[in-house]
Amino acid sequence: MASSANEPVSIHRSFLVWRGGYYGKVALALSALAIVGYWIDHPSGPPNGGSWLGYAYGTIGLGLIGWLAWFGIRRRRYGGQGPLEGWMSAHVYLGLALIVIATLHTGFRFHWNVHTLAFVLMAIVILSGVFGAYAFVRYPAMMTTNRAGSTLKTMAAELASLDQQCRDLALTFDDEVAALVVQATEDYGGKFTFREGLLGRGPNLLAGATGAAIAKLRDQVGGVGNAQPAEVLPLVQNLTKRATVVVKMRRDWRYRAQLLLWRAVHVPLTIALVIALGIHVFAVFYYR
Ligand code: HEM
Repeated sequence: MASSANEPVSIHRSFLVWRGGYYGKVALALSALAIVGYWIDHPSGPPNGGSWLGYAYGTIGLGLIGWLAWFGIRRRRYGGQGPLEGWMSAHVYLGLALIVIATLHTGFRFHWNVHTLAFVLMAIVILSGVFGAYAFVRYPAMMTTNRAGSTLKTMAAELASLDQQCRDLALTFDDEVAALVVQATEDYGGKFTFREGLLGRGPNLLAGATGAAIAKLRDQVGGVGNAQPAEVLPLVQNLTKRATVVVKMRRDWRYRAQLLLWRAVHVPLTIALVIALGIHVFAVFYYR
């Protein structure tokens, strides 16, 4: 995929308020009109996709989904800022109006069939889109705050330098303590799990090798090694500092992962939705 985690910064964040939220108003008007239409219409049977209003909503929904999916192709054609912001604004707001139109199209009749499958896929695509829009707005600032002026590259360099300092300082201690410090310099908080990627539960390095090394170093003061606080302190400080750098780096990975992950739902499920929708429309006319 051509997109990268840095992209949100280049796509202007103001897509939500583009031209005073023009498409938001269009989407609201469209939804309100659809609700009023549903309210005043009295089809011969229960409200459903087969009444004339149901067909109208189905056609509008189909058109919207086609247009929204086309956005993917369109987006690649325009690399720069140009019309993208307006398109994006329209995509987000009209995508939200779609949930109203499609729900009214169903007449609130859901069963275990391909029609409901198409609806569920649409709902998941929309929900993932809501998260994507949220991430586009919030994440660039959150990433900047987390990085605090550094980049992943400079954080990695800082980590390497702290690790080296820790290993050098550890040489003045006995083998057991030195081994624990070396282990702590290899502590990156374990695997980057789905739980962390999705829920943001970062690792607690103080509960692992880092914590064990710090505890052991503290025990050294006036203990077995009879170390002086001045010997222990720089090492403890360095280990604590490297732990904060690791946590920051992992948070940065999490933001990047989330910026990519929602698309891994949005795009493939769009394809699945288009297929399910094709079957839905075919089934409706074939079995009529
Ligand atoms: C059924 C409805 C929808 C369909 C079929 C759809 C489809 C798509 C497609 C095909 C893309 C291009 C992805 C890519 O190439 O990376 C996209 C991007 C996007 N969609 Fe949707 N979408 C829908 C609804 C929504 C909704 C409701 C929202 C937000 C509330 C939304 C937010 C986004 C965002 C933020 C992007 C990213 C644009 C970018 O990466 O430049 N989408 N959508």
